[in-house]
Amino acid sequence: MIYILHLEDDPVDAELIQVTLTSAGLVFKIDWVQTGDEFSQALRRGGYNLILADYRLPSYDGMSALLLEQEWRPDVPFIFVSGTLGEDAAIEGLTKGAIDYVPKTKLSRLVPAVKRALSETENQKKRKQAEDALKDSEERYRTLIEQASDGIFLADPQRNFVDVNPSGCNMLGYTREEMLKLNMKDLTDARDKSISPLRFDELYSGQVILLEKKLITKSGALLPVEISGKVLDNGNMQGIVRDITERKQHEREREAIITVSAALRQATTRTEILNIILDQLVDMFDSDGAMLVLPNLQTGGFIDEMGRGAVAERMIGLNIPLGKGVCNWVVTNKKPYLNNHAENDPFFYRPDLLGASHCLASVPLITQDQTIGALWIARKADILEQDLRLLNAIADIAANAIRRVKLYEQTELQLRHLLALHQIDIAISSNFDANVTLNVILNNVKNELEVDAASILLLDPITHTLDYAAGIGFRTRRIEQSNVKLGDGCAGRAAQEYRTVSFQDIGQMDGAFIRSSLLACEEFVLQYATPLMVKGHVKGVLELFHRKVFEPEMEWLDYYETLATQAAIAIENASLLENLQRSNAELMLAYDATIEGWSRALDLRDKETEGHTQRVAEMALALAEKIGMSEVEKQHLWRGALLHDIGKMGVPDSILHKPGPLSEAEKEIMRQHPIFAYQMLSPIIYLKPALDIPYCHHEKWDGNGYPRGLKGEDIPLPARLFAVVDVFDALTSDRPYRKAWTREKVYRHIEEQTGKHFDPQIVKIFLEDKHFQKWDEDGA
Ligand code: C2E
Ligand code: SIN
Ligand code: SIN
Ligand code: FE
Ligand code: FE
Repeated sequence: MIYILHLEDDPVDAELIQVTLTSAGLVFKIDWVQTGDEFSQALRRGGYNLILADYRLPSYDGMSALLLEQEWRPDVPFIFVSGTLGEDAAIEGLTKGAIDYVPKTKLSRLVPAVKRALSETENQKKRKQAEDALKDSEERYRTLIEQASDGIFLADPQRNFVDVNPSGCNMLGYTREEMLKLNMKDLTDARDKSISPLRFDELYSGQVILLEKKLITKSGALLPVEISGKVLDNGNMQGIVRDITERKQHEREREAIITVSAALRQATTRTEILNIILDQLVDMFDSDGAMLVLPNLQTGGFIDEMGRGAVAERMIGLNIPLGKGVCNWVVTNKKPYLNNHAENDPFFYRPDLLGASHCLASVPLITQDQTIGALWIARKADILEQDLRLLNAIADIAANAIRRVKLYEQTELQLRHLLALHQIDIAISSNFDANVTLNVILNNVKNELEVDAASILLLDPITHTLDYAAGIGFRTRRIEQSNVKLGDGCAGRAAQEYRTVSFQDIGQMDGAFIRSSLLACEEFVLQYATPLMVKGHVKGVLELFHRKVFEPEMEWLDYYETLATQAAIAIENASLLENLQRSNAELMLAYDATIEGWSRALDLRDKETEGHTQRVAEMALALAEKIGMSEVEKQHLWRGALLHDIGKMGVPDSILHKPGPLSEAEKEIMRQHPIFAYQMLSPIIYLKPALDIPYCHHEKWDGNGYPRGLKGEDIPLPARLFAVVDVFDALTSDRPYRKAWTREKVYRHIEEQTGKHFDPQIVKIFLEDKHFQKWDEDGA
């Protein structure tokens, strides 16, 4: 459908023109206007594909219409259809924008003119749209290039830059003007060893090519890039350059981290780990020195503990005082340090040792929020931020690895210590020869504490001297003549002051060190002594000697004191037994008298039970007679009864004399008294058959007794019998923890405990004497 605006004053002409168009088969709608006003209104409304206009009208004219059309609707084709238009006016009309002229006399030309006009405007419209689109996309493309983060450039076949986007300029540090004066060759650098310089050629090879290069920037730095190029039709090459510094750095870090972690995974000791880390630091950073700095526990400063490379070798073992050194700054601030002119840093402790390697980076070793030390590297070439980042990553891995082995080493050490202690326990409990036990202990001391020599001195309570008892690791036997006065020297002080004492430089102390002449040839430099304490009393001293300087850790001191406790127990046990064994000979002569003496001694100690032992022994014997025991059995029973509570010798006064009920812990100790008795008496051969009572008199018929929880007839008969008389006498006597019960109450208790605490048969026989016993009391 063609929409036509027709300006014509003559209705006949208007009609004629419509007929002409219709008869040509055109499909159209026509708005016929006769005046200028009508024309301008219609034109403003718009919506026409074509304007036909007469040239001369009564109150208007075609040229004005054309001018109006050109102003408002320049895209709508305008054709003059007029009878009066002269040659000149026609030319003027055409130059002013009309597309054609058809005289009314030659209306046959109208249809072709209309068709041509319409198709021409159509083409024009399409062309314009295409142009607009092109302009649009060009603009978008330009923006894209201007804003791209990659560098984009055009180079001519001679590789001169023709165009470069802002990113390309920024990347290389040049302005656009400077770039356009450069050739690609100007960006290559001999330092780029990884890739042959000839490979720029490949960008011109006609295909899309991607290559990695290092370009030299205006400042002279090497920039790792990835370049792709594509040759355009005109022979120019369009290239894209991408800065791959980050990616390269990440690749380097990842590789470094993989290398370090793989190496560390194999390592099982701290030393191994530190060696691996230091090797890697030298390698990776091309450094002239790498060092591990650890806190010096003694001074609070730092110590350059382990290092690699020339610079490190000059600093190794450096004792950096408290508050000094870069490492102190790093550890205190938990921050990395980077200074390419470290020689000027007032924090530095010994900048003079750096020499030419004045670029220094240091990072803290942090694991689980604990700073355990620091690493530093030094070199001649500048250290960059990214190097620091890598150093940090390695420090992380290192710190965790150090922590891991530390835990591992600690567990292993604890396990070894436990095993050693267990070994000593076995020696103590199975070997009553004090010398053997002491030697087991000294062996462990030497191995576990890694000392050069150790000895045990025992306190003679009469002379107040510490006398040699056992030793290990000495070059001569002169130590055996040691007798140190209480308060003298390291050992004498330890014994007097009840604490661990150490002496440094003991070789130099001639006068002060009492035994210096004895130890002259031993070359000891360090001595430790700790008291051997049993129940608050000093029994002797465990002393250690080092021939080299040594700084103990807390664990070492703890373990030292643990071993000393073990030694003290061994000595205590051994002396108890030795006392007994010494008595052995006398017992052979007059053993009954001795046993009675012991039991009296016990009664004397346990004042409240005075007479108890004698009474229960007599009652037990009477009861044994009633059940028809043999003479031999009765003899053993007599001795056993006298000794039944001998184990209370091993119970501290504070428990034995406690006026009130015992705590669980105290009960625990009290319940050891049958075991103590067994340990004391079992080595004495002729007392062995008498052991039943001391060992088993607290077992109960129902199995709820101690120490072994024996039940029924598993409890030896003498012990079953004795339990009844022991409890009977205990309850009828005053105790520090309660008053005596009445006889009635005691009998009721014993009856009630029949089959629980006591053997029913024994109770039955015991109660047969009830009246006799009652009479005995009444008569007393
Ligand atoms: P022990 O005083 O010669 O008592 C021997 C046993 O008699 C006790 O063994 C228990 O079976 C019985 N016995 C003594 N007193 C009482 C009592 O008040 N009530 C009852 N039901 N039974 C009594 P056990 O209990 O194994 O005690 C062994 C030793 O432990 C006692 O010898 C005593 O030296 C000590 N002991 C027990 N309880 C206490 C207490 O509460 N305070 C204090 N300071 N010592 C206690
Ligand atoms: C050139 O070939 O144009 C310069 C060297 C290079 O390609 O790196
Ligand atoms: C450090 O602190 O570990 C570097 C040595 C120094 O500060 O002198
Ligand atoms: Fe007892
Ligand atoms: Fe008793």
